[in-house]
Amino acid sequence: MTAASLPPHASETLDPRNWDELRAQGHRMLDDMIDYIADIRERPVWQPIPDAIRGQFRKELPRKPSDLADVYRDFTDFVLPYATGNVHPGFMGWVHGGGSAVGMLAEMLAAGLNANLGGRDHMPIEVERQIVAWTRQMFGFPATASGIFVTGTSMANLMAVLVARTDALGKLSRQRGIGEAGALLTAYTSKAAHGCITRAMDVAGLGSDALRCIAVDECHRIDVAALRETIARDRSAGLTPFLVVASAGTVDIGAIDDLKAVAGLCRKEDLWFHVDGAFGALAILSETLAPRLAGIEHADSIALDFHKWGQVPYDAGFLMVRDGERHRDAFAAPAAYLRRETRGLAAGAQWPCDLGPDLSRGFRALKTWFTLKTYGADRLGAIIARCCALAKYLEGRILAEPRLELLAPVNLNIVCFRFSADDADKVNGEVVVTLHEAGIAAPSTTVLNGRLAIRAAIVNHRTDIADVDRLVAAVLEFGVRRASDARTQVGKLGQSLAV
Ligand SMILES: Cc1ncc(COP(=O)(O)O)c(C=O)c1O
Repeated sequence: MTAASLPPHASETLDPRNWDELRAQGHRMLDDMIDYIADIRERPVWQPIPDAIRGQFRKELPRKPSDLADVYRDFTDFVLPYATGNVHPGFMGWVHGGGSAVGMLAEMLAAGLNANLGGRDHMPIEVERQIVAWTRQMFGFPATASGIFVTGTSMANLMAVLVARTDALGKLSRQRGIGEAGALLTAYTSKAAHGCITRAMDVAGLGSDALRCIAVDECHRIDVAALRETIARDRSAGLTPFLVVASAGTVDIGAIDDLKAVAGLCRKEDLWFHVDGAFGALAILSETLAPRLAGIEHADSIALDFHKWGQVPYDAGFLMVRDGERHRDAFAAPAAYLRRETRGLAAGAQWPCDLGPDLSRGFRALKTWFTLKTYGADRLGAIIARCCALAKYLEGRILAEPRLELLAPVNLNIVCFRFSADDADKVNGEVVVTLHEAGIAAPSTTVLNGRLAIRAAIVNHRTDIADVDRLVAAVLEFGVRRASDARTQVGKLGQSLAV
């Protein structure tokens, strides 16, 4: 085939014919997104997607090109108004970080570079290595510790289970499978641990039954004596305990296990000590909160999310492993097409693809680097401490209000409470949905001791006292309304039964 025989359009790239037009459109988009963040308080936290909008949005695969301005209009009309809401200070559901304008700009730069961080010798990899070094420093880990960005803590916890599994069974198990020895492995966590730990055991081929979920105390911390006894019982039954997953901030109420005691037990029993620090681990950045994490420095591995309390835009999960060699043992796999050189682009020896299952990897490190450098670790730590102070303020408001009931101790930044009413589970479930639909606040719910709780997790750096007051006022208003609706319904039901 000669150049002349190529179809004419094949020589066109996807770059614009007119860069000035693209630049003007790009500036409009950037300005709009900066305004979106700056004016976020003027918007509802969340709003339901009208059926008509959902219907209008769904289209056939576009075969023909469209104007960028028209595509952007679809985004502003259909996508932007109906986003998750976690940029808004009234968002307190689940554990979502608020992101920042700086992180957004960094994402744009990362997309421009379009770097693949699977490996090779380029500066974006050095940026990730810099974050690894800073994270080591945060937790007092040795220079031999390895670290890698992943989607989120669910993935980081899964990878930690895989590293611990390979460490327990030996590298050969990667070829031969987990075999009979693998069938005897048992792991330990608390009943309050995140569900992704159970899923990790399942996905790792060890089976979720091999995970012992140990009882917790009244503050939801793992019962270390019960943990010790369960390990001993398993050993005497011929099983092979290999891993303990402690929580630094449980998802329900933010409890931090006694990491020192768990570390000591793991050392004595020769078990892998992993910490799920999805959001709580970054409390290490606050001088006042860091002592609560004492013992985390002894962990064999830590999973955490920079996209939660680190305020880095989604997603920026992270796994750090004390012994980088053992980390590599679990994932590194030679391949001719991934040959390492001493010079040229294929240099750089250890590549991130040796530390996890991903080969293609985006540049999550850049938005994290920008966030840490621009704000500084101390300021991020101060924001984390402020979130906890706001949670204490909310606790105080609840304790002072007879119509509200506190359902769990406030350990960190999570407050579980409810409006007191007959049929309180139903009333409070409806209160939360009404809060969402009214766009006032977005807490989530959980169930504690069989009772439905309104759960406010304060993670967003924008959340202020006024947002907490607005939440309390709206819960009281909607609580009164929903409780009276429920009474009316019961009354009507009583009347119809009487008829
Ligand atoms: C304690 C804990 N572990 C694990 C996870 C899962 O993290 P991710 O959603 O980043 O996968 C969460 C999420 O909130 C969490 O709170």
